[in-house]
Formats: sequence, C-alpha cells, structure tokens
Amino acid sequence: MIEVIKSVDDLARQKWDVLVPTMGALHIGHQSLIKLAKKEGERVIVSVFVNPLQFENKEDLKNYPKSIDADIKLAEAVGASALFIPSEQVMYPGNIEKISAGSIGEIYEGASRSEHFSGVLTVVKRLFDLVKPKVAVFGEKDFQQLFLIKQMVTQLKIPIKIISGPTIRDKSGLAVSSRNIRLGEDGEKVAQVISRALTKENFEQMKEEISSDPGFKLDYLEVIDENSFEKAKMSTQNKRVIIAGWVNQVRLIDNMPMGNQK
Ligand code: PAF
Repeated sequence: MIEVIKSVDDLARQKWDVLVPTMGALHIGHQSLIKLAKKEGERVIVSVFVNPLQFENKEDLKNYPKSIDADIKLAEAVGASALFIPSEQVMYPGNIEKISAGSIGEIYEGASRSEHFSGVLTVVKRLFDLVKPKVAVFGEKDFQQLFLIKQMVTQLKIPIKIISGPTIRDKSGLAVSSRNIRLGEDGEKVAQVISRALTKENFEQMKEEISSDPGFKLDYLEVIDENSFEKAKMSTQNKRVIIAGWVNQVRLIDNMPMGNQK
C-alpha cells in the first residue's frame, strides 16, 4: 500500500532514495518519471504541492487541476512508496529563504512569468531540504526549469543527483500536460501545430508551420544552446528548439533537441 505523508515528522521517520516533485493532477508523463525513479532506488516518494509562489496569475493557481484520489492510484500503480502532500503551512512556515533564478530566470518563460522560476527554485530547494533524497527526477518538458534546477544544485553544492525524463506525447505528438484538460477538443487540435512545427527540418520551416494556425498565439520560438541557455550559434553542439504560446488562453510549452527532426 502506498503511504500518504502530510507532516515533516512523518517524512523524517524514513529514508527516501528518490524524489519526484509534482503539482499533482498526475498523468502518464508523471508515471514515466516515477518509473525512471524506480530504476534509481527502491524508496520513491512523489510530492504533490501546488506551489503558490510560482503562479504569477492567481486565476491560473485557482484553476490548477486537483485530483488527489486519482494521484494516489496512479503513483501506486507504477510503484511509488509514498506520496508527500504537505499543506502550505508545512512548506512555508514563514522563514523560508527565497532563491533567485538569476538572469536565465528572466528570459523566455521568465519574461512572461515574472518570479515564476524563483518560486520553482524556492519550493524545490525546500522539498530537497525536507525529503533529503539521493536522486530527484524532473521532466524535460519544462526544459528551462530543468536547466535552472541543475544550475541551483551546482551553485549551492546540493548533494542530490538530478535525472531527467523525456517528454511523453500523445498519438498526435502533443506533449502530455496537466493543462491539456483545459484546451477542449478544438483547442487540442490547434495545439497539435506545436509538435508539427518542432519536427520540421529547419528553423524557417518551423516558423512557417507555427504561424499556419491562427488559433495558436506564439510567445517565443527559439533555438538555444542546451548547456548555457544562450541563443544557439552555428558552432553550438547541443541545440534545442524551445517554444511557448497560448491556445484558448491556456499557456503551452514544448521543446525538442535540434537535429532529431525527421
Ligand atoms: O514541474 C512542476 O510540476 C513544478 O514546477 C515543480 C517542479 C513540482 C515545482 O513546483
């Protein structure tokens, strides 16, 4: 039976090998991360906390899907040992130091969502301090978030290994996300333009494809250097195309390594 833990005392009574931080509304993308976690250690704990610090838009926070009963079943089905479901009081008792995300926290996602990455790093650091895992697993779908978490771990010399899992896509290529529920059937069709664009052979074709559907409102489409998050140069070894935009006012992000396109 999976254990549901709510207090810091109950959490501290046991040792945890791997942490999979989530905001709940679990889906097959999260399950794939839990499966990856199981390869890293026996005792896998999944945290479920909708972190108010990373929402600049209070409506977005209010509308964030919640499905704890389903989350428990989905985490158990892929072998998680426990779910950590802290209250806001447990996570933020009042004296928590806010972590800055630096200059890379202010571009791309950070440009549209001020303070977002500082909120993410603050909650992740707090989870690391409470759970003290050997390994933590994050999805590649939030590529800038993954970059900033790795940067924080290096800068603060946190003794936790960061593992990343690939983006899970549905049959159409749409990246699986908790937000997809809010797209509706028509919105989902429009959102498919994202993966169609990302799989084009070159950047010009990607731009052309993305502008082919007026239902998709582009925020940014860029090729970056995976190792620095700077705009890629011709000589960049590991390039990645990143994209964000809105469909029916739902913000969607995605990314793909450059060079893997068909
Ligand atoms: O990727 C997410 O779901 C969240 O940003 C995270 C890492 C759980 C922090 O709240």
